[in-house]
Amino acid sequence: MIKQAIIPLAGLGTRMLPLTSVIPKELMPINGKPNLQYILDECIEAGIKEFIFVISKKKIPIKNYFFNDNFYKKIIRKKKDKRLIEEYKRIKKYQKMIKFVYQNKPKGTGDAVLKCKKLIKNKYFLMLLPDDLIIKHNCSKEMIKLHNETNGSIIATKRVEKKSVSRWGILSIKNKKKKYFQIKDVVEKPSIKKAPSNFAVIGRYILPSKIFGEIRKLKPGQGGEIHITDAIRSLINKKNKFYGNIFTGKYLDCGTLSGYINSGIQIFRGNK
Ligand code: G1P
Repeated sequence: MIKQAIIPLAGLGTRMLPLTSVIPKELMPINGKPNLQYILDECIEAGIKEFIFVISKKKIPIKNYFFNDNFYKKIIRKKKDKRLIEEYKRIKKYQKMIKFVYQNKPKGTGDAVLKCKKLIKNKYFLMLLPDDLIIKHNCSKEMIKLHNETNGSIIATKRVEKKSVSRWGILSIKNKKKKYFQIKDVVEKPSIKKAPSNFAVIGRYILPSKIFGEIRKLKPGQGGEIHITDAIRSLINKKNKFYGNIFTGKYLDCGTLSGYINSGIQIFRGNK
């Protein structure tokens, strides 16, 4: 059963400066709702019961967003505003599901996941990168289904343009079926020449808890960070089964300013 989701939120958001100098990128609104809330709603619909937010001291506004009870109580007492009461109920629902761990130095996705080791209860958990929104079809739900069918670990994937492979983790594939394939290898941000395919890792992973042991052994990789990609690679080398889920939803990249603007437009249009 996949019941817990890790969400790394300690990244500095440099691609979105100067906005992110005061607002965490995960709280920036997309069509009236913070980016992060889209991720939470996707997970809840997929059956997730607990979120582990990996934040840093600089990302305290995320904590304040979900844990500002006194603020709501005061205003609701004064104004008795129906809309606000509903919003507060929604916040309380999220609040009950969230735990925090700290990653004060941005040392990469692998390091962020390792910080959650003590809180993970089951053999598998979900991990989501909040820059990557997937709309129209619930990607986490699809992945959990594939996990139940294969008993393996799952990575969300889509084909990207060959010229952009060095922006992504790239998968080497075998036994390709219509909607998924087995992963033979994965390389973090390869050059065009070294890329084994153009199937990119998109930020959704179902990972086994034994990955913590592999992360511990890693030395900093590409860009000096501890990448989850490298720990996955070690597990694949040790014959653990990983599958790429070619998801059916629409991918929106919220990690850059132009991507963020486009996401707002796409979601607005989709809602009309
Ligand atoms: C991260 C991962 C990369 C993945 C990408 C998806 O990179 O390291 O493997 O393809 O997310 O968005 P980042 O966006 O942090 O550079």
